[in-house]
Amino acid sequence: MRIAVMAGDGIGPEVTAEAVRVLEALALPELELVEAEVGGAAYKRHGHPLPEVTLEAARSSDAILFGAVGDPSCDALERRLRPEQAILGLRRELGLFANLRPAKVFPGLEGASALRPEIARAIDLLIVRELNGDVYFGDKGTRRLDDGRRQGWDLMSYAEDEVRRIAHVAFRAAQGRRRRLTSVDKANVLETSQLWRDVVCEVAADYPDVALEHLYVDNAAMQLVRDPGQFDVIVTGNLFGDILSDQASMCVGSIGLLASAALGERRTAHGAFGLYEPIHGSAPDIAGQNRANPMAAILSLAMLLRHSLGLEGEARRVEAAVARALGDGVRGADLGGSAGTRALGDAVLERL
Ligand code: IPM
Ligand code: MG
Repeated sequence: MRIAVMAGDGIGPEVTAEAVRVLEALALPELELVEAEVGGAAYKRHGHPLPEVTLEAARSSDAILFGAVGDPSCDALERRLRPEQAILGLRRELGLFANLRPAKVFPGLEGASALRPEIARAIDLLIVRELNGDVYFGDKGTRRLDDGRRQGWDLMSYAEDEVRRIAHVAFRAAQGRRRRLTSVDKANVLETSQLWRDVVCEVAADYPDVALEHLYVDNAAMQLVRDPGQFDVIVTGNLFGDILSDQASMCVGSIGLLASAALGERRTAHGAFGLYEPIHGSAPDIAGQNRANPMAAILSLAMLLRHSLGLEGEARRVEAAVARALGDGVRGADLGGSAGTRALGDAVLERL
């Protein structure tokens, strides 16, 4: 099995290094790691945030362990050269349309949530975010109107097959959990959302064992802080999923704890090809200071073991080691503690 390691920018290299240490500690046989540059780091060396060599490394691997992209020194570049284009390009080029973003409160961390502990305690949900369509990938541009005013525009659209395939992923995920699915849209205003809702209802016929409900995204945002325990699986489009998953992270206590998987249709010998990344991003303000929490990266590695390598036992061992470290009171700066990135990695390794 070959894993492409793409550490990227900001805190990406620090947190990814800890995930790699955990992977190495598992001493899996016949595992090859290949490093590849992405984001601002790749732009500075190759003149492009997603150079062909990196895409090639991705294509010839079974999974990608991804850090983060985003670098303020690149903000003035034209959009196609900005670091964020690397992750968007990988998602699109590799057909990674299904983004799984689990959010669960670790025992002992109820008090860290932005919500009251008795509300936070019940959080155990999975956001299934569509990742290849929506306003992210529609035509976009800026133009001059006839009267000279500048206008920016982005086209939001979903084709029915795009909705259908993500709906199937979400229904199947619900079948493996508490069999409840909430589809989030804005069908009271957007045609894109009305089609989304119609197609999700059609797909529901194949899953009579899953209870389906629909929420408008504004109501979903409210319910997520009012009573997050009501959610099992949430399925939604690219833009709404981006926003709701950051919101969910604060309900859990720290964005430094949320992992994600991006999956497509390509299969590997033991599972699905996928890209695994912490959802926190590059956090340039704390980069290089040994302050980032590597747990989201380590939990992303656990998802890689589960979904791409078919190693459920190892995935659970890694998750249990993180949970034990947190349960023992090990805390990084994101949770009001003083353990640095390396010390947090050590804490997980000791318990592994
Ligand atoms: C995420 C990030 C990305 C997104 C950015 C970096 C392009 O916010 O993975 O949630 O918007 O999808
Ligand atoms: Mg985001």
